Amino acid sequence: MDRNQSNYAVRKLIAKYSHTDPDDWFLTFRARLGMAICFQTIYDIYGSGEVITQPYTCITAVNPILVSNLKPVYTDIDPKTLSIDNPEKLYNSKTVAIVLQHTLGIMSGETQKIANFAKKHHLILIEDSAHCLTRMATDNSGNVLADISIHSFGVEKVLQSTKFGGAIYVNPTLKKKDAKLYNEITSRLQGLPQPPRGLDLRSRTYRFQNGLLHRLPNSMFHNIRNLAYRAHIFELAVAPYEQDAEQSPPYASTKFINETILKYLPSLPSVYEKRLKNTLIYNKKLSTNSSFKQITQTKEPLLAYPILFKDAASATKAYDVLTSSGFFIRRWYSPLLYPGPISNRRYNYNQKMSPIAEDMQARVLCLPTDLSSEKMERILVILQSTENK
Ligand SMILES: Cc1ncc(COP(=O)(O)O)c(C=O)c1O
Repeated sequence: MDRNQSNYAVRKLIAKYSHTDPDDWFLTFRARLGMAICFQTIYDIYGSGEVITQPYTCITAVNPILVSNLKPVYTDIDPKTLSIDNPEKLYNSKTVAIVLQHTLGIMSGETQKIANFAKKHHLILIEDSAHCLTRMATDNSGNVLADISIHSFGVEKVLQSTKFGGAIYVNPTLKKKDAKLYNEITSRLQGLPQPPRGLDLRSRTYRFQNGLLHRLPNSMFHNIRNLAYRAHIFELAVAPYEQDAEQSPPYASTKFINETILKYLPSLPSVYEKRLKNTLIYNKKLSTNSSFKQITQTKEPLLAYPILFKDAASATKAYDVLTSSGFFIRRWYSPLLYPGPISNRRYNYNQKMSPIAEDMQARVLCLPTDLSSEKMERILVILQSTENK
């Protein structure tokens, strides 16, 4: 299979899972690079403006706005969905777009209301489905609500083994809304160059190198990894320059990335089945603990299951117990704009503007949903033992 054939095969499969058309999908080296193409085109056509987003996210989801010379403005989050709350509050004549992020795959927020708001004010609605590959918010008839939807095959996403690759869905209805924007975004995504040799090589060797790094004692892990990064032999999931509002130029996905995706994407239905089963177990079994609360009871295949401890110290303690028992626990997104900007100012972020997100990031733990039944039992026992301690 050559690169074009593998590219088409990936798009065909994504389209099958998302009930869309392969021609509306574009593959990028990473999702963040495709996001930047979209924002850059918005800037080139509409000029400078504001993008409503949320600080409860990865910094890589905000850099695409900044590198495109647009200004991110942040809403606080809805504590039940960890997603954007009341974008209306931030709307003004400079607003050009809204980012609707389905944090951890929770899509149960007011997606239709936000889409109506975007439509009413002629704003571009960009859905961040990085945590819910191929899942998109739809209206009652099954039509995709967003103008553009961002999907990721990157590190710690729904498919564990792919590590690189982004898929950008450009809704054909955007053609009607703004033909110039539609044509420009699709032709730029279509015409992306291949990554340079070094980057291509680092994406090929990532899994092997990462495996080796994880065999190192904890005390050496970070130093050796950073050394390898500085020697240009290892690609970090988030590089230090990305904490300072910069990112790599945009590239298309490679033949290697496409082939890796093709190897693992067919397992998506069973991956989602397992994640859904475990989400439902957490829903049921974690509802009565006195040291933490559930954030959601959603019946969706979550990327990770968020729980909220009574204070930061209890969250840290539980994190330590679980990680020392061998579980890979995430604290998404702690700190906000994870792993944290070098300067809040550069990101136009003011902690006072989002007290709910600030509070939740200090107390949240995200439990894995890709565990076997035995490991689920073990994690539940450990969590139960945190009660009242
Ligand atoms: C919410 C969110 N959006 C976008 C991205 C970017 O995805 P990628 O790593 O494929 O660039 C990430 C992860 O980095 C993310 O967590």
